[in-house]
Amino acid sequence: MGLFADFGKARDELEEKVEERTKELSQTYKKLAVAFESLKSTQDQLVESEKMAALGNLVAGVAHEINTPLGIAVTGASNLEHSAQLIKKAVESGKIRRTAFVNQCNSLIGSSDIILRNLERASELLRNFQRIAVDQSNDEKRTINFFKYLNDIISTLSSRVSEKNIKIFLSGDETLPLLTSPGTIAQIVTILIDNALTHAFKEIINGQIKISFKVQNEMLMLTVQDNGCGIEVGKIEKVFEPFYTTQRQKGSGLGLSILYNLVTQSLNGKVTCFSTVDESTQFVIALPLD
Ligand SMILES: Nc1ncnc2c1ncn2[C@@H]1O[C@H](COP(=O)(O)OP(=O)(O)OP(=O)(O)O)[C@@H](O)[C@H]1O
Ligand SMILES: [Mg+2]
Repeated sequence: MGLFADFGKARDELEEKVEERTKELSQTYKKLAVAFESLKSTQDQLVESEKMAALGNLVAGVAHEINTPLGIAVTGASNLEHSAQLIKKAVESGKIRRTAFVNQCNSLIGSSDIILRNLERASELLRNFQRIAVDQSNDEKRTINFFKYLNDIISTLSSRVSEKNIKIFLSGDETLPLLTSPGTIAQIVTILIDNALTHAFKEIINGQIKISFKVQNEMLMLTVQDNGCGIEVGKIEKVFEPFYTTQRQKGSGLGLSILYNLVTQSLNGKVTCFSTVDESTQFVIALPLD
């Protein structure tokens, strides 16, 4: 009898404990679910803020880039005015000779030509910029000429590139149409070029970034390679981790982790990094063709 009573008591206690633990577990689970949701939304916010930063970089780069042709056009216009004044005076005084007149006219034509070419360059830059900026805010799939699109992205970054005396080379099929999310492509390429400019070329004189693409086994292979300082063996695996950076003061360490998410999740592709110290760093991105 005593044994059964003990047994019953023990069972009740056990049931109580199980119930208690189940409650605790379910509360822990609820807390975890809340924490997970908040982590996810923090991650979304980070991706959003990185997008905004990329857009900010784009704006700064384009403003800088447009300044050059506009400055040249302004100088051209002031030369044009000067030459026109000279001709006017000479004609008014009736002293101008035919050859001098023709020379002055040639100088007018030369200045007009400079102005036109530089204004066209500025307006082309603006067009590229508009396209890419729109793509970054609304990233629906559409068919692009991949070569031309990459060229447009490169041109929005060219002020920073030329400032550092670095050359960018693009190679691939110039006629290839590609159905993709252009804004995502722009973000990916911008992150890689930005990284090469920031990390690769500290003491490199003849800095080069080579961007190439080809279709292979129904995949689009996009490669971005620089001939910079490279990444040490043990650190290559870390570069895609969020917050991994060797430039704590300047970088957040999010660039390549965002790139990883864009390639694997938005575009269903793969990305691999190869690097040799003091030689080169190469990112290879494989994207399925739809
Ligand atoms: N082309 C490269 N050459 C050498 N090192 C590189 C190159 N690209 C990336 N790295 C290394 O990988 C690290 C991580 O890059 P990631 O873009 O994720 O962050 P970050 O550039 O440091 O900061 P952020 O992009 O947030 O401004 C860099 O800090 C750098 O050490
Ligand atoms: Mg970066």
